[in-house]
Amino acid sequence: MSNTRHFLTLLDFSPAELENIIQRGIEMKREHAAGANQQAFPGSVLGMIFAKSSTRTRVSFEAGMAHLGGHAMFLSPRDTQLDRGEPVEDSGRVISSMVDIVVIRTYGHDIVERFAAHSSVPVINALTDDYHPCQLLADMQTWMEHRGSIAGKRVCWVGDGNNMCQSYINAARQFDFELRIACPPGFEPDSSLLASNSDRVSIEHDPKLAAREADLVTTDVWASMGQESEQRERAELFAPYQVNSELMSVAASGALYMHCLPAHRGEEISAQLMDAPDSIIWEEAENRLHAQKALMETLILANRA
Ligand code: CP
Ligand code: NVA
Repeated sequence: MSNTRHFLTLLDFSPAELENIIQRGIEMKREHAAGANQQAFPGSVLGMIFAKSSTRTRVSFEAGMAHLGGHAMFLSPRDTQLDRGEPVEDSGRVISSMVDIVVIRTYGHDIVERFAAHSSVPVINALTDDYHPCQLLADMQTWMEHRGSIAGKRVCWVGDGNNMCQSYINAARQFDFELRIACPPGFEPDSSLLASNSDRVSIEHDPKLAAREADLVTTDVWASMGQESEQRERAELFAPYQVNSELMSVAASGALYMHCLPAHRGEEISAQLMDAPDSIIWEEAENRLHAQKALMETLILANRA
C-alpha cells in the first residue's frame, strides 16, 4: 500500500540506493561462488506473474528465491483469474495477502502500477512495454565489475526506442552518464521522457555518429514481445542499426558492448560480436541472478522494517 516500496522503474530508488543494491549484488555473487549459505528468508514466497515469455527473468528470480531459502510460485495469467477479467486491483490485494514479494512481466506499464497500488508487499517490474529496470541493474553491475563507476561515461543505445532504451534513459539520470540514442526516425523513445532528460540524453539517427567515442554500446531486438507482426518491416528499416565490429571501431578504445538477450545474430548484433570469446554478454545475463537477489533482499527487509 502507500508506504510499501516497489521497483517499477529505476526512479523508485535513489542513486545511492541503486549503488547499494549493485554492490550487494557483486557481494552476493562472490558469496554464492564460495558456496555460502544465503538462506536469509526461509518460508518467504515470491509470486511470479508472467503474461509474456521469459527465460532469464523467470530462471533468475526463481533460482534467486531458492538461494534465499524461500519458494517461488509461477503464475500464468492464462491459468489464474487474471485472463478471465478479475480486476488487477483485486488480484493485487488478494495475491499480496498470501506472498511476501511479487514480480510481474506484462504489457501495459499501468498494469504493474495498478497492481502495486493495491499490494501490501513489494512489487518488482520484470518488464513492461515501457520499462525493464531489472535488466539495468544487471547491466550496471556488469559495467561496474569490469570498469568501475559509469558516472561521466558515454553510452550509446543502438536500435528501437523501446522498454530497454527507456530504462537506459532512466539509468543515465540515476547513474549520471551521457546517453546517445541511435534509432531509425519514427522509433524514438517517449518524447516526454526524452524532454525531461535532455541534459544528458540525445537522439542521433546515424549510428556511427552516435557510437563515436562511446564507452559502452548496447542494443536489443528490433521487434519486442507483442510486436511480432512488425518483425519483417522492422528488419528492413533497422538494417543500418546493427552493432558489429565496424560500428565498434568508432567507439572509444576498450569500449564494451552489451545485449539484454534474447539476440538475433545477423540482425541487431553480428554473430562475430555475439560469439567473441571476450564478450561480456553472458556475464550480463548471469548478473540478473545476483542483482535481483540483492533487489529482493532489499525490498523484503524494507517491507519488514
Ligand atoms: N533479458 C531478459 O529479460 O530475458 P528474458 O526475456 O529471457 O527474461
Ligand atoms: N525489448 C525486448 C526485451 C526482451 C528482454 C522485449 O520487450 O521483448
